[in-house]
Amino acid sequence: MALSLAVIMAFVLPVQAAPSEQESDPNKLCMACHSIPGRVAKLANGEMLPLYIDHDVYTASVHGQEKILCTSCHTTISGYPHPQLAANDYRDFQIDRYVACRNCHTEQYEATLDSMHAAALAGGNRDAALCTDCHGAHDISDPAEPRQKTSVTCSLCHASHYVDYKESVHGEALMADGNPDVPTCVDCHGVHAIHDPLTAEFRLKSPEICGECHRDTLMMDKYDISTEVFETYVADFHGTTVTLFDRQSPDQATNKAVCFDCHGVHNIKAVTDPEATVVKENLLVTCQRCHPGADTNFPTSWTSHHIPDRESNPLVYYINLFYAIIIPGVVGFMVLFVSLDAFRRITLRFRSRRNGGEKHG
Ligand code: HEC
Ligand code: HEC
Ligand code: HEC
Ligand code: HEC
Ligand code: HEC
Ligand code: HEC
Ligand code: HEC
Ligand code: HEC
Ligand code: HEC
Repeated sequence: MALSLAVIMAFVLPVQAAPSEQESDPNKLCMACHSIPGRVAKLANGEMLPLYIDHDVYTASVHGQEKILCTSCHTTISGYPHPQLAANDYRDFQIDRYVACRNCHTEQYEATLDSMHAAALAGGNRDAALCTDCHGAHDISDPAEPRQKTSVTCSLCHASHYVDYKESVHGEALMADGNPDVPTCVDCHGVHAIHDPLTAEFRLKSPEICGECHRDTLMMDKYDISTEVFETYVADFHGTTVTLFDRQSPDQATNKAVCFDCHGVHNIKAVTDPEATVVKENLLVTCQRCHPGADTNFPTSWTSHHIPDRESNPLVYYINLFYAIIIPGVVGFMVLFVSLDAFRRITLRFRSRRNGGEKHG
């Protein structure tokens, strides 16, 4: 009898340790009321404020793991009763409370002040993204893991761009296997300091955004994609002007084509995809947006992204070759001619001086 009691105790004791662990939960006081499911409070406009916080979800969040107190964010609350709730509706409540993030994430907070979202909020658009819209409040996890998560976050409010993106060559690769190389929304737009993408400045800078990856041979070799696209673009009549504009008058609009005028923005397809804006069947329409009078031969007048070779563009190739031989040839000949002439003059002068010297001596 005594033995069996001891055995039972051995099994029970470790189990009893669990509640004492919960006692050490720093948020025990708050959770006494807030872990009861289904409780709500009524806001001024009649909307319900949920009061239930899932203990396990909070504990598993980045903040729960760091043992951050409820009161670190809810700084005006220390026990019950709570200070009077001023918010008229739930969105008001969120806009009032999200500012708590600033205390520990000053850098991100200040970056968001310089964003389209903050500008929209200041302009009275209450739907603009707050920290908590993108990250959550009590269930925050690593925002970039898995990689698909970032773009899904933006999709909450930018659904149509997300749909286009998801079906693009970039989005498809990301959604399929979390491809680490393709751009997510934030690679092109930034994260916290998202600026207006419809400005002349953004348009002029945009080839640089694409170029960051499309110039990277190490990355592009993996996909067998040419990295000449950036250099050839900068060298052609569209790109040269855009790069010059960018350097000299970044605020002025350009009507010259940038990468996304030909390839699309969120819906970029592989160049062999029948839906691609640059596939042979669709290319003329793409050019006609800015060259309304263009006929079927027009696209061939552009050497596209290829450094011209004998097969793809024999005329340009031979003209280039002609210059490649003739110009160095002519210049070389001139240099040779001038130096031979100089040599002749120097030797003549030297010889005549020596002759004169001999006379005097
Ligand atoms: C005795 C139960 C009780 C305890 C303990 C309690 N709360 Fe509350 N809490 C409530 C009730 C009820 C409401 C609904 C609004 C009200 O009555 O003020 C509420 C509302 C809230 C709200 C939303 C409204 C607001 O004012 O922001 C937050 C946040 C909150 N509690 C956090 C906390 C924190 C943090 C603690 C621990 C320091 C805590 N509560 C402890 C019962 C409690
Ligand atoms: C990282 C900051 C942070 C921490 C930590 C935090 N909260 Fe909150 N809480 C918020 C924000 C911000 C809101 C506003 C609602 C929103 O944006 O989802 C909120 C809202 C609430 C609400 C209102 C209901 C709701 O979901 O909107 C309650 C109740 C609440 N918190 C209780 C707690 C309790 C209890 C804890 C501790 C277990 C806690 N909070 C920890 C930031 C935090
Ligand atoms: C009391 C300080 C404190 C407050 C307030 C706070 N955080 Fe944190 N936060 C931390 C700490 C500590 C970490 C974990 C260490 C780290 O990754 O920086 C963290 C981590 C994070 C992460 C994950 C970072 C990563 O790289 O994985 C996000 C996202 C985040 N917090 C967002 C928020 C948001 C949104 C709010 C406001 C609702 C908030 N935090 C309020 C202290 C705080
Ligand atoms: C429009 C959505 C959005 C808003 C608004 C937003 N974030 Fe983020 N945040 C993200 C995304 C997405 C990432 C991950 C970036 C990446 O891919 O590395 C991130 C990353 C973070 C990180 C990890 C460290 C870092 O800088 O990468 C912290 C901490 C953080 N955010 C806090 C905040 C705080 C605090 C606010 C509000 C002041 C806020 N965020 C507003 C989307 C947002
Ligand atoms: C909670 C909703 C919400 C979320 C989440 C959100 N946004 Fe926004 N976003 C808005 C609102 C509202 C505007 C302002 C629209 C306006 O003024 O017309 C806006 C504006 C923008 C703009 C400028 C658009 C324009 O028309 O000039 C860009 C770019 C943008 N968001 C990108 C993002 C990205 C990238 C993410 C994800 C990291 C994101 N947003 C997440 C609501 C959101
Ligand atoms: C490859 C770069 C790239 C990626 C990835 C990208 N964008 Fe954009 N986005 C742009 C460019 C460039 C513009 C400006 C287009 C223009 O001038 O017509 C733009 C414009 C926008 C606008 C404002 C234009 C409008 O029509 O209102 C929003 C909002 C936006 N993007 C959201 C998103 C979201 C959400 C995602 C992810 C699902 C995303 N973007 C992914 C490059 C990108
Ligand atoms: C005037 C229209 C136009 C502009 C501007 C343009 N492209 Fe292209 N791009 C095309 C066409 C047409 C093709 C398909 C035929 C070809 O390969 O030349 C193509 C092909 C591509 C390819 C596929 C290459 C391969 O190896 O399969 C990539 C990547 C690309 N472009 C990126 C860019 C980038 C980045 C920019 C800006 C720096 C840009 N393009 C500017 C029309 C354009
Ligand atoms: C963060 C890196 C990154 C950025 C920024 C980026 N791309 Fe890409 N892009 C890729 C990768 C990686 C692939 C290959 C995806 C695959 O095939 O799975 C790709 C594929 C493409 C393709 C398809 C090429 C083919 O196979 O036919 C085109 C066209 C393209 N990108 C154009 C653009 C344009 C235009 C921009 C700027 C508006 C841009 N990209 C910005 C990484 C990037
Ligand atoms: C976003 C508008 C835009 C798009 C799209 C566009 N172009 Fe252009 N293109 C221009 C502008 C502007 C000029 C400069 C005209 C000038 O300086 O007189 C130009 C100049 C040219 C020239 C130099 C000869 C001339 O007519 O002045 C050629 C060739 C050309 N583009 C071919 C193309 C081809 C081929 C396409 C389609 C693959 C295309 N462009 C798409 C805007 C565009």
